Amino acid sequence: MVVLETERLQLRRFTLDDAAFILRLLNDPGFVRYIGDKGVRDLDAARGYLQAGPMASYERHGFGLWCVGLRGEDTAIGMAGLIRRDYLDDMDIGYAFLPEYAGMGYALEAASAVMAHARGVLDAPRVLAIVDEDNASSIRLLEKLGFQGNGVVRAPGSERDVRLFVADSE
Ligand SMILES: CC(C)(COP(=O)(O)OP(=O)(O)OC[C@H]1O[C@@H](n2cnc3c(N)ncnc32)[C@H](O)[C@@H]1OP(=O)(O)O)[C@@H](O)C(=O)NCCC(=O)NCCS
Repeated sequence: MVVLETERLQLRRFTLDDAAFILRLLNDPGFVRYIGDKGVRDLDAARGYLQAGPMASYERHGFGLWCVGLRGEDTAIGMAGLIRRDYLDDMDIGYAFLPEYAGMGYALEAASAVMAHARGVLDAPRVLAIVDEDNASSIRLLEKLGFQGNGVVRAPGSERDVRLFVADSE
């Protein structure tokens, strides 16, 4: 199911057929360093992640992390979307791309479409983002999207703070 289209990209719902892509994305060193090690080491675990994560979120909230692909091609390049976490007051934006698709503006293009969806379709008054303080490229992206820093937050069970960013709708 296609959710969003941009000039170069298509965002669609993940299905269990995306397990091989997810296995690769979740074990990319950039993902592990800045988002965390999800412990997904084989296709079965990748299907479990998809089911308990993005696919459960579609059912529960009508949104979640979506699969980003190049328009007109059957190639997944990353994920981007919205997450509703118990410990945050509003939905937050999330994204991660395979390293070979970095530095081409794809993350900005996908994240801009996600923000437009949050505001225009979901009517979200504000969107949050949580990011590792060393993740300079992600912080640069958030600032391009109009986010502003708003202190730090610590996820339950985590041992370290992450920076919290906020984008209020006008
Ligand atoms: C965070 C992450 C998504 C950022 O990706 P990115 O490749 O830096 O972002 P973009 O695709 O928007 O590319 C940005 C660069 O492309 C350049 N660019 C090239 N062509 C462009 C175009 N057509 N349009 C816009 N920018 C373009 C921009 O100038 C920009 O350069 P800059 O970073 O020096 O300002 C990526 O590093 C990633 O997946 N990291 C691992 C997971 C992660 O950390 N996720 C975020 C958790 S909070």
